Amino acid sequence: QRVAGAADVAGLRLMARRRAPRMVFDYVDGAAEGERSMARAVEAFERVEFSPRVLRDVAEAPTAVEILGRRIAMPVVLGPTGFTRMMHREGEPAVARAAEDAGVPYTLSTMGTTTAGDVAAAAPGGWNWFQLYVVRDRARNLDVLSRAREAGMDVLVVTVDVPVAGARLRDVRHGLTVPPSLRWRSVLQAVRHPAWWFDFLTSEPLRFATVDGAPDDLAGITNLMFDPSVTVDDLGWIRSAWQEKLLVKGVQRVDDAKELAAVGVDGLVVSNHGGRQLDRAPTPLELLPEVVAAVGDRTEVFLDGGVRTGADVAAAVGLGAKACFIGRAYLYGLMAGGEPGVRRVLDLLRAELVRTLQLLGVGDVTELGPDAVRLR
Ligand code: FNR
Repeated sequence: QRVAGAADVAGLRLMARRRAPRMVFDYVDGAAEGERSMARAVEAFERVEFSPRVLRDVAEAPTAVEILGRRIAMPVVLGPTGFTRMMHREGEPAVARAAEDAGVPYTLSTMGTTTAGDVAAAAPGGWNWFQLYVVRDRARNLDVLSRAREAGMDVLVVTVDVPVAGARLRDVRHGLTVPPSLRWRSVLQAVRHPAWWFDFLTSEPLRFATVDGAPDDLAGITNLMFDPSVTVDDLGWIRSAWQEKLLVKGVQRVDDAKELAAVGVDGLVVSNHGGRQLDRAPTPLELLPEVVAAVGDRTEVFLDGGVRTGADVAAAVGLGAKACFIGRAYLYGLMAGGEPGVRRVLDLLRAELVRTLQLLGVGDVTELGPDAVRLR
């Protein structure tokens, strides 16, 4: 009810902040070190200047695009996020269902709290993707991939910007444990966020679905499990274990993009992990046009980081992205109100995208180009 009245994602963010305990909200809202990469990603969208044409027929402004050989309802992909059931008990299945109904893909994370099979069961008609973090134990990687494949997932997103965990200082300050534990500090928090705690204490214990061990601090488990020695050569065995589409997420330089295009990946995501890894990394929206110019004819280029509105989606597509991944935007909706909150986010993005196209005098999203968008 409340989420349906939210005017924009920023409004849902404020609702999320009220509903969730501070340490949970900050796990989503925060980024690494001085949080400059995140701030710059958002600020880059503020510098977008649109150049509208007038007297164009914009009676309809279709938003469907084709990516990786398939049509989707708008150029948006729900990106992978770990530990999604911590934000709301409905977790990954709710996000996957909302994505299915909106006609856009959903990406399940290696650090997810729902199995690939359960995501597929929740959204059997959805386009469900899987994101891989390469862990030290090779057999485990293969096992995880085959389970994703068995669940019908046919796009693999290999995230390459986490050789080690970034330093998320808000989590350190809060002493965030995953799952959150009810210590004296959180008891105080529980009084202020009763609905979240009620849900949390009455739902199934939070667990990683594909990573085992008792998670405590996320950085600890990341550094223990993830393989920091992965190189571009490893894409070879990943390729042989995965015959479907393959994307690499976390590309931050033109030379790396060229190297990856040369080995034949199906797509790249220009991303700095929402600013959660290396602080002061390149700003995705600024880097995008160079990457598209260098490899856009050989591989599909996607972008993430800082996308909060449909106008942001229009800007990124105008500057050459096939589609945008979103992270925090849908998590704010989920935290604010479960599945209806995620639905609200996707409805908002679509309506904002349509309106932006119409005001821009662009009659179809596929006609958006750099003539309509520049960075001030
Ligand atoms: C992430 N992200 C992420 N990426 C990934 O490849 N695997 C993962 O498990 C996670 N987990 C995760 C958790 C949370 C809480 C956030 C906010 C982000 C990064 C995510 O896929 C994406 O790159 C960023 O979220 C994009 O930036 P915005 O849209 O959040 O600004």
